[in-house]
Amino acid sequence: CGIVGYVGHRPALDVVLAGLRRLEYRGYDSAGVAVLSGDGLAVERKAGRLANLEARLDEVGRDGFAGTAGMGHTRWATHGAPVDRNSHPHRDTTGRVAVVHNGIIENFAALRAELEAAGVELSSDTDSETVAHLVARAYADGDTRGDLPASVRLVCRRLDGAFTLVVTHADVPDLIVAARRSSPLVVGIGDGETFVASDVAAFIEHTREAVELGQDQLVLITRDGYEVLDFHGEPAPAKPFTVDWDLSAAEKGGHEYFMLKEIDEQPTALADTLRGHFAGGRIVLDEQRLSDQDLRDVDKVFVVACGSAYHSGLVAKYAIEHWTRLPVEVELASEFRYRDPVLDRDTLVVAVSQSGETADTLEAVRHAREQKARVLAVCNTNGAQIPRESDAVLYTHAGPEIGVASTKAFLAQIAANYLVGLALAQARGTKYPDEVAREFHELSAMPDAVRRVLGTTAQVQALGRELSDAKAVLFLGRHVGYPVALEGALKLKELAYMHAEGFAAGELKHGPIALIEPGLPVVVVMPSPKGRAVLHSKLVSNISEIQARGARTIVIAEEGDDTVRPYADELIEVPAVPTLLQPLVSTVPLQVLAAEIARSRGYDVDKPRNLAKSVTVE
Ligand code: G6P
Repeated sequence: CGIVGYVGHRPALDVVLAGLRRLEYRGYDSAGVAVLSGDGLAVERKAGRLANLEARLDEVGRDGFAGTAGMGHTRWATHGAPVDRNSHPHRDTTGRVAVVHNGIIENFAALRAELEAAGVELSSDTDSETVAHLVARAYADGDTRGDLPASVRLVCRRLDGAFTLVVTHADVPDLIVAARRSSPLVVGIGDGETFVASDVAAFIEHTREAVELGQDQLVLITRDGYEVLDFHGEPAPAKPFTVDWDLSAAEKGGHEYFMLKEIDEQPTALADTLRGHFAGGRIVLDEQRLSDQDLRDVDKVFVVACGSAYHSGLVAKYAIEHWTRLPVEVELASEFRYRDPVLDRDTLVVAVSQSGETADTLEAVRHAREQKARVLAVCNTNGAQIPRESDAVLYTHAGPEIGVASTKAFLAQIAANYLVGLALAQARGTKYPDEVAREFHELSAMPDAVRRVLGTTAQVQALGRELSDAKAVLFLGRHVGYPVALEGALKLKELAYMHAEGFAAGELKHGPIALIEPGLPVVVVMPSPKGRAVLHSKLVSNISEIQARGARTIVIAEEGDDTVRPYADELIEVPAVPTLLQPLVSTVPLQVLAAEIARSRGYDVDKPRNLAKSVTVE
């Protein structure tokens, strides 16, 4: 979910709605706003996208929303269907307290029962509503009476689970209280105005000065500034930082969709991620706190991640094992800790996450650290929770990624994972310094190679339009082409809601070949005929097997690979690059293909149904 709060000198409704617009990628099942003024609390909320809420506000009129303090929420539904009454903000029965919440309150059933036993009637199915009633009751009575921050602290101490909360009370219209545990919250400091939000994108057009909140902290914001406390009311340390990107990074800049802009930004994302990591003839992971000795001690690597980030790990496994001779296991973060993986202090766990706040990955990090493993985060968001809880961090510098389906962050993750592999090889001496230098040099040529792929997208777009009526699409690959096939299929599922599966091409004959029927589009990611001649010829045989059964073959192959032509109903050429780097070029046409199919089916490429970009619940 996306959360924003504001106290300042401008009309809060405009600021909050603009902030929500920038946070909508975090969830778009419903949206809501609350504005405080001397007259009380005005609230409006609506199921569906933010546009529905805005239409609703136009209908009811915005007169009641004239205050300069307010908050808003854009929801990704967990407890309770995405309908109006489950939308945030939630209020207590008097309507004077309003709350927005991101996360899951695990003991909500007990809290709800307690409220119901006390005669409170709840009006939604959400876990979040309980907080509004609990705060109202704390504010009305006892030691915390009339003290909103103290009331919120008291309630936070009673909550289990993960939460970001923003709370207001009509009695104190110049104050907003926000709190967090395992769920993101940042403060933005403007001139005579202060913001809180799930991420800086919400206030980047007003200020780049921000403050990161720690675990179990609470912040009070007024137009004059902020104060950070722990849940017991003691002053708590908070870390100020300056956002290193500006508004233009959070805008579409002439592109129809963010995703299309982000696909185009991939050469820069790669170059920025590699920059500075080779100096004095060595790979330098400068943002990390693992010594060469730590790296030498590593005897096993796990990569844990979700979604596309997981696929970046699958790609990296081939390179890291090849370069370091260390066993690498790649595991879905949501499975990792529940399976009792074998970990000790010589295990390196690489946690890959664009957002740095994915709950599944965060819990995997916590489990790994409990088992004494060393954790290195590969993350695209400065100061996010996963890097904060890790021993070390290597940042991808892809810039903000707003399209829900990952593109530039995925390529940057592959590059960063490769840097980790090279650093391990260097420390362990499994590669000579000149070999490490050569690998880095080859990586550095990839931004240009990707730029060349982007110059040829028209053909892929035309193909996308042709395939828009397909019922299903299969993706095949071998070696590093296999995770590329998985990523291609994921993109198509996410964006075009089309049945899509990726398979290891060699596995086809052991089952999936039964799916082949005349006309079924099958995308095949070919290895280089020179770099991997044996694999190449095996894959050619796999293509002929499916062609013989009537499939329509769409082949992604290296420029000049003539041997594959007879097997390709459609041939998409990508530049020749070293085998391990091929995913960086061969993924790009698959991203373009999925986006174009989705577009021609009339879907919103940036906000696919049911998804959210950062999922802060397990
Ligand atoms: C969500 C997104 C995916 C993303 C995954 C992991 O499910 O829809 O596109 O790959 O989370 O996100 P992370 O921020 O941890 O990389």
